[in-house]
Amino acid sequence: MNQHTNPDREARNILIANDRGGYTIPTEGLYPYQWNWDSAIAALGFAEFDIDRAWTEIETLFSGQWDDGMVPHILFHQQDDGYFPGPDVWGGHGPIPSSGIIQPPVAATVARKIWEKDGGAGEDRIRTLFPALLAWHRWIMKWRLDDHGAVCTTHPWEAGRDNAPDWDKAMEGVDPTGVGEYQRRDTSHVNSADRPTKYDYDRYIKLVQIGCEVDWDQQKLLSLNLFRVADPTMTFITLRAARDLMVISDKLGIAADGVSDDIQKLEEGARSLWNEALNSFDSRDALTGEWAGSVSNASYLCWYAGLESQSMLERLQGTLANVPFPVPSYDPAMPNFDQRRYWRGPTWGFMNMLIGFGLVDMGHLPEAEVLRQKTSQLIATNGFAEYYDPLIGSPAGGNSFTWTAAVWLHWAGRK
Ligand code: DGY
Repeated sequence: MNQHTNPDREARNILIANDRGGYTIPTEGLYPYQWNWDSAIAALGFAEFDIDRAWTEIETLFSGQWDDGMVPHILFHQQDDGYFPGPDVWGGHGPIPSSGIIQPPVAATVARKIWEKDGGAGEDRIRTLFPALLAWHRWIMKWRLDDHGAVCTTHPWEAGRDNAPDWDKAMEGVDPTGVGEYQRRDTSHVNSADRPTKYDYDRYIKLVQIGCEVDWDQQKLLSLNLFRVADPTMTFITLRAARDLMVISDKLGIAADGVSDDIQKLEEGARSLWNEALNSFDSRDALTGEWAGSVSNASYLCWYAGLESQSMLERLQGTLANVPFPVPSYDPAMPNFDQRRYWRGPTWGFMNMLIGFGLVDMGHLPEAEVLRQKTSQLIATNGFAEYYDPLIGSPAGGNSFTWTAAVWLHWAGRK
């Protein structure tokens, strides 16, 4: 049954309703601020009907860039008591009060895509943005690489896949003693079975408190060795961003010193995430060298990063054929699979879109089209949810969700 008779209109209305003037919140209530990668994805949606607004989204995101190049994962433009942890817990640094960690850098890739749509008119916008995009890339290269050249996540929220099984072993090493009393807000907005557990939350907050104590000094955080996992989300997305920065710099005729060397380093890092025993790209604890043993939806971002893998392609073909609503964030055959709990099983439309971009770029058109159609059906039938149960397709988490609306407009809903 198709309950959503005019998804194009609905998707545009969601973006417009979530627009707070220059930036878009992911969804009312649960996420009342500007989130980094949500915002970049939102820009792709706006680009389908208001290209000027698309550029503004990215520009507002970079207006929160710290002096050292870091682009925070949340910008707290206006205080909202419905969210925890807010600016007071993070320390409120930056030109706009913000969090102290990043999120996967999809912005450079999105900026390139918007520019390609906007032709000549976008040139001024991207020319102005370029140094900021480059500075963020350099910050990541300086502070987040492991010894192999893979990019590390220093907080589960940094990779954006908050409670993925990828972090389970590394999280055991985070001691939450002294975290104190705090009141979660997320579970007052949505079903607690869809959200991370208290065990995880205590550790998320503890890591924030420690970061705040050292004023987000990256050198100090590195030596504290709290949590550092080299992961496919950060690594593949950073590699892709570096490739896009090179293309933008060539087209603009502006130098991007060092980026082609960075690409080589990141390619090595990305290849180093191949876990032979698992036959998949995996996450690796940068402190212990231990594999996480996780086949996640991020494992399928290899093509997005411009890397070929026949084994991943065969695995994807199996997933498209056997999982009713692919691509699950965690392999249903694995013991910790949980079909509703956030990043431990559910399907995320925007991750499907990124996987789809990679499949097209690398010439895997049949798989890309099956994935697009299945995502399109999932959204048209179940609405613009934050994410979906991969076995029965039911919506989960927040609703009227910005990035799912953007995914519809830019990719899933396009014939
Ligand atoms: C949350 O609060 O759930 C976010 O994912 C943190 O970025």
